[in-house]
Amino acid sequence: MRDEFEEPQPPALKGDAEAGVAEALQRAEAAPLLAVPAGIQLLNRDFLTDAANLPDGSIDLIVADPPYGLGKDYGNDSDMRSGEDFLAWTRAWLDLAIPKLKPSGSLYIFCTWQYAPEIFVFLKSRLMMINEIIWDRRVPSMGGTTRRFTSVHDNIGYFAVSKDYYFDLDPVRIPYDAVTKKARSRKLFEGSKWLELGYNPKDVWSVSRLHRQHAERVDHPTQKPLEIVERMVLASCPPGGRVLDPFMGSGTTAVACARQKREFVGYEINESYCAIARERVSLAANPPPPVPRRSKAIIADPTAQA
Ligand SMILES: C[S@@+](CC[C@H](N)C(=O)[O-])C[C@H]1O[C@@H](n2cnc3c(N)ncnc32)[C@H](O)[C@@H]1O
Repeated sequence: MRDEFEEPQPPALKGDAEAGVAEALQRAEAAPLLAVPAGIQLLNRDFLTDAANLPDGSIDLIVADPPYGLGKDYGNDSDMRSGEDFLAWTRAWLDLAIPKLKPSGSLYIFCTWQYAPEIFVFLKSRLMMINEIIWDRRVPSMGGTTRRFTSVHDNIGYFAVSKDYYFDLDPVRIPYDAVTKKARSRKLFEGSKWLELGYNPKDVWSVSRLHRQHAERVDHPTQKPLEIVERMVLASCPPGGRVLDPFMGSGTTAVACARQKREFVGYEINESYCAIARERVSLAANPPPPVPRRSKAIIADPTAQA
């Protein structure tokens, strides 16, 4: 593992004559894609050994998606703990992360029903619990377990440092469709902000998991949908604020921050996941120009008879 994830540099230009004009042009075009915006830090480091370098009270929002203790292969043994061993490790990193929050800060933690009760009880001894969000992964019905009900959700704990925590509902409101709007057009509802801007998302979030064919999917086994993480960032980090992701994976939180103009610091021990994160953030910050639409002009057929 490298100490810090170094920015990949394009190979040095040898001169257009030698490299060929076409190749040089290609490189020049590709160069901006490598640019990670200032304010986004992608660290190929272990959060537990490196957390001390992050100043206390400097973070607005923590989005934590740690190994779940279910034996996933992240190219390392980080998800091989279980039972009390896993819970002790979870308490250890939470004790390192929580002091990084500002008094108005908050934390989301992804976990599973197997460990959510213990993790939430522990977090309630340190922070204020705001919500439990159920992420319904929209798993299609396909047989499933036979000795209990099939589990199709992840648990997300949402906690804050104090009752003065930052929360902005407007950017995450869900617009009403035209039919509902019309149905609520009675005088009583006229001018209602919620009717115009949309409603508050409920605490069950139905968002499809990223199956292999999904357009967003990269090479990470437990990549989270951008839609979920972006909602957290928009609601719980002020514009220009700073987000910490102690277990960055493929960089979904970093992408949300690049898109929504928040600062970001993330840790990941697997170097190839860091590379994926870098590529995703670069693309989010420098999206390729849209493909020009094909002209619908009818080209005259020279063979046609007059
Ligand atoms: C559940 S995944 C995160 C997925 C991420 N949210 C995404 O959308 O791609 C957890 C990640 O934590 C990394 N990890 C495990 N232990 C770590 C540690 N001590 N410090 C930093 N990263 C760690 C793993 O390699 C794995 O990629």
